Amino acid sequence: MRKPVIAGNWKMHMTCAQAREWMATFLPLIAATPNDRELVVAPPFTAISTMADLVKGSTLELSSQNVHWEGHGAYTAEIAPGMLLEHDVVYAIVGHSEPRKYFSESDEQINHRARSAQSNGLIPIVCVGETDEQRTRGEAERVIRRQVEQGLEGLDPAKLIVAYEPIWAIGTGKTCESTEANRICGLIRSWVGSPDLIIQYGGSVKPGNIDELMSMSDIDGVLVGGASLEAESFARIANYQAA
Ligand code: PGA
Repeated sequence: MRKPVIAGNWKMHMTCAQAREWMATFLPLIAATPNDRELVVAPPFTAISTMADLVKGSTLELSSQNVHWEGHGAYTAEIAPGMLLEHDVVYAIVGHSEPRKYFSESDEQINHRARSAQSNGLIPIVCVGETDEQRTRGEAERVIRRQVEQGLEGLDPAKLIVAYEPIWAIGTGKTCESTEANRICGLIRSWVGSPDLIIQYGGSVKPGNIDELMSMSDIDGVLVGGASLEAESFARIANYQAA
């Protein structure tokens, strides 16, 4: 049985003061959320310590937005697994399309990050997805398959989440059709060859489309950007009711 994982990625948003305000609104709204799902937030590094205090006693878990493959060293701007574990962080997003695009992160680097996460007891959330041009040229499946094969090499599928995030759907308001998102998630599961692999969909997930997305057979949760910044809308997503 795959337990759905509903994760909010705050990206470069939220001061500690804003995170406190968000939590004050959010926690009461998930007090009655069924425990058939995991709820996760990925704050910026500066708010992780504050959030670690605030999530105590709740069902909300923390994710980082990145993790390095070394335990420490001369890697300016990076974060080591032990620094995250100290704050009870459980998940680490790696390979998001933004670092892929702005910092030219390769599948090989992403694989190093994901392996480091796993070997240190963090669960990597490895993001994959095609651009608009790649989809138009009919290359979406080939691109995603390469990202999956190279990015997941050597990883244990039982301690892993894959997030299918078509880049053209991120932050654009254009959600991928739920049936198409479901088809790609099913393909990813077959390529990895693990029926228990958890696969999320990400890209303009909102209160208005969450119930339909979560009704799909191969979508085991969502990775939410913009709609996770508002406590009320993320709570509605957390409280999805699959048809
Ligand atoms: P979005 O972002 O929900 O704002 O489209 C998703 C993501 O980048 O993970």
